Amino acid sequence: ELAHHFSRGEKLCVMLGDNIIEKNIARAAEDFRNQERGAKILLKEVADPERFGVPEIDGDRILSIEEKPTTPKSNYAVTGLYFYDNDVLDIAANVTPSARGELEITDVNNRYAEWGTLRHHVVDGWWTDAGTIPSLYHATQLVAAAEDASVLRMPEVGASP
Ligand code: G1P
Repeated sequence: ELAHHFSRGEKLCVMLGDNIIEKNIARAAEDFRNQERGAKILLKEVADPERFGVPEIDGDRILSIEEKPTTPKSNYAVTGLYFYDNDVLDIAANVTPSARGELEITDVNNRYAEWGTLRHHVVDGWWTDAGTIPSLYHATQLVAAAEDASVLRMPEVGASP
């Protein structure tokens, strides 16, 4: 609803605010510019897919996504970075709350999967979300290491700031 006025019938990129990536999504964006219709989601191989939305992949198509499955169908997490054609506004308007009481982006993505128009791209470099205290700490370490930031070096007790 909020995106209606600025999308003006055009394609959209949606990014969840707690997702952090090392590199950029320029190539995926360029590919999606050339995709006639549907959606493209960004994936990342992870050790703990059960924490995320997990795709079942068949070549360049995503068959379906399961939200936090106990038996994941792949080792990929669906990241919080998505490209959509303008149909997404109608799809999102018709989504109903899930068992956890939230409107799920996975339900939106599964609609595109049903239509056979859900494509994917694997994120370059590291990706993390920062929605829990452990993942926020992990994200902080990744960014600090990338920046070689002095935040990694704890000040000595009693030292002036
Ligand atoms: C949301 C999505 C999930 C995705 C994750 C990425 O999960 O529902 O599919 O893998 O973001 O950060 P949530 O953070 O709401 O648990």
